[in-house]
Amino acid sequence: MKLLLRLTIAYLLIFSLHAEGQTPGDAKMKSFIDALMKKMTLDEKLGQLNLPGAGDIVTGQASNSDIAKKIEQGKVGGLFNIKSVAKIKEVQKLAVEKSRLKIPLLFGMDVIHGYETVFPIPLGLSCTWDMQLVEKSARIAAIEASADGINWTFSPMVDIARDPRWGRIAEGSGEDAYLGSQIAKAMVKGYQGNDFSKGNTIMSCVKHYALYGASEAGRDYNTTDMSRVRMYNEYFPPYKAAVDAGAGSVMASFNEIDGVPATANKWLLTDVLRKQWGFKGFIVTDYTGINEMEAHGIGDLQTVSARALMAGIDMDMVGEGILTTTKKSLQEGKSTLQQIDKACRRILEAKYKLGLFDDPYRYCDEKRATSEVFTDANRKAAREIAAQSFVLLKNKGNILPLKKSGTIALIGPLADNRENMPGTWSVAANFSKAISVLDGLKEVAGSNVKIVTARGSNLDQDSLFEERAGMFGKSLHRDKRPADVILKEAVDIANQSDVVVAALGESAEMTGEASSRSDIEIPAIQKDLLKALLKTGKPVVLVLFTGRPLALKWENDNVPAILNVWFGGSEAGSAIADVLFGDVNPSGKLSTTFPQNVGQVPLYYNHKNTGRPLPEGQWFQKFRSNYLDVSNDPVYPFGYGLSYTTFTYGDIKLSNASLKGNQKLTASITVTNSGNTDGKEVVQLYIHDVVGSITRPVKELKGFQKIDLKTGESKTVTFTISPDDLKFYAPHSVNDYDLKYDWEPGDFEIMIGGNSRDVKIAKINWTK
Ligand code: BGC
Repeated sequence: MKLLLRLTIAYLLIFSLHAEGQTPGDAKMKSFIDALMKKMTLDEKLGQLNLPGAGDIVTGQASNSDIAKKIEQGKVGGLFNIKSVAKIKEVQKLAVEKSRLKIPLLFGMDVIHGYETVFPIPLGLSCTWDMQLVEKSARIAAIEASADGINWTFSPMVDIARDPRWGRIAEGSGEDAYLGSQIAKAMVKGYQGNDFSKGNTIMSCVKHYALYGASEAGRDYNTTDMSRVRMYNEYFPPYKAAVDAGAGSVMASFNEIDGVPATANKWLLTDVLRKQWGFKGFIVTDYTGINEMEAHGIGDLQTVSARALMAGIDMDMVGEGILTTTKKSLQEGKSTLQQIDKACRRILEAKYKLGLFDDPYRYCDEKRATSEVFTDANRKAAREIAAQSFVLLKNKGNILPLKKSGTIALIGPLADNRENMPGTWSVAANFSKAISVLDGLKEVAGSNVKIVTARGSNLDQDSLFEERAGMFGKSLHRDKRPADVILKEAVDIANQSDVVVAALGESAEMTGEASSRSDIEIPAIQKDLLKALLKTGKPVVLVLFTGRPLALKWENDNVPAILNVWFGGSEAGSAIADVLFGDVNPSGKLSTTFPQNVGQVPLYYNHKNTGRPLPEGQWFQKFRSNYLDVSNDPVYPFGYGLSYTTFTYGDIKLSNASLKGNQKLTASITVTNSGNTDGKEVVQLYIHDVVGSITRPVKELKGFQKIDLKTGESKTVTFTISPDDLKFYAPHSVNDYDLKYDWEPGDFEIMIGGNSRDVKIAKINWTK
């Protein structure tokens, strides 16, 4: 009888928790945190909101550092970018042995595209269009980071970017909201798994919320300003997708929105993120994001700290505005205890979920640190993933793949450099272990190939520019000889070889944070080198390093083969060799448009039509939306990428030409490998909503499938489309400006193809 009663009570408890969307685990967590918070002083609560920089921590000396004192006083909630189990353990020990309440610290890091095993920069990774690989890269990054003491990563970065001048375009997944959303989900899943119980998953932090990628003129940290319609339809989806996938934390961005910096923007942080999207985790500022609001001009440190807290910020990165001013704000009624309690609870919840209260050292296992980091298996995966990220932009006369015989002249400032291979934001990388192009070619070429190499040119004529572009230990080892001597040496070896591989482009730090450029061409000195190499009459393959879409009109017109390799990570050189020699057939597709020149920027595939569109295939017409001096076309459109084989598309077959209500449409197409090599193709589905209550993009990506096709093989690819795929945010009623997410009946064009430009089209009508 007693048992029955207990079971009934347990059942009722579980049932009532579920009714509120809570699990028994949530209830346990709540009572644990309730009890802990009862013991906490105001100072200790504010301490949990503090995420200082960890600059002065050296192994063996942690206890003497300034940070140590703060940790012991309970004034620190977490630290970031400290590397190694030894150091992290030492610091954690201070928190759990020396501070009054023994609350463990969070340890964050910018694990952006891998840990010691480095994967392609995110822009490159997005060009794989392979969500399993994307997830796998995040999974491996989480395993390595968690083995080395880290439990929180400041990734994924999901900012939509349409301006290649912006250096941080390298850190995101390109220009498209749909592709970006799929990647955001895959990354969160890869980092976090289904829960944190295994100890080899880490908490993700979606950033930079929001619209950071839309900074004016592509200048970093600059103002953003956009309509709500554009925000919701074109920039918000990847953040929301990451939140829906369960991301544990969100980072506020540096930029302003509607005149209020994101860090103090209550509409953004609370109304949209928490109320509309149901985000339950914690929000951290970006690096000194609160203090910077003084320069933005919205108040002194006390004012901006109070505004941040009120807007919904939970944790203050580096600046300590919240730590140092909130007591005063409380006394003056500018902040409330409730705000502090809410934020403190969210930080404690994250620590609880990560299992740190059970075992503060659960991410500090020396054995794992030595056996699970930079393993052969992880490196092999990185090599495979890197090869999938490369985009073959041109291959005239099938110069590629290279034969494994004869003499290859490998030339360029990036030919024999390891430090730059991992790319920007590779905090945990060991540069000396990265594989250069020369290393990779030697490894893969075999004994019948002779490789000769020369620099050919420096990265840039201007040594100061080159210094700025070689920060964080990523030197290009500038050659001090006169430019003509360096060039002549290269031309001489080119003349003696069968083929020239020119490893040129940008250095790793020419993109990334605060690395904006107003000129997005290959530096002039490298272009001169390329011209001289072409003049030899030898076949030239441009292996192009870049972290952004470059303006490649001249190169596309003059260089027979171009393989865009981004920054491929620690195994880049091997992967480049795999593709150059045809051991791997390239299959990457661009996730951003490559313009003809910087004046066309922003140039993106899913633009609006305007009232005066230029008829397709034309250049100039007076009183049309175009330029006098350049056509509207890109050099390479979104979704573009060649293969060593060719793919032929049949016509679209639709299940119905007219549909009603919640019916589903299937659109199929047969794709044939019509060339001589097995290969992979990314089949892309675009939809155009022909008439809307608001103007609609000329097309929008709504699905894709990456398929393997053997030579001569055909496969039918089928997309299932439901009204959900037609939805967009709009007032949907002339008298109401509140945005609603819905679809509108009418005509739609269904487009399928191998890139956003070359598509087959079918038309349907869908009524409600
Ligand atoms: C960047 C963030 C990064 C943070 C911590 C900031 O400067 O904007 O993306 O996560 O630093 O390193």
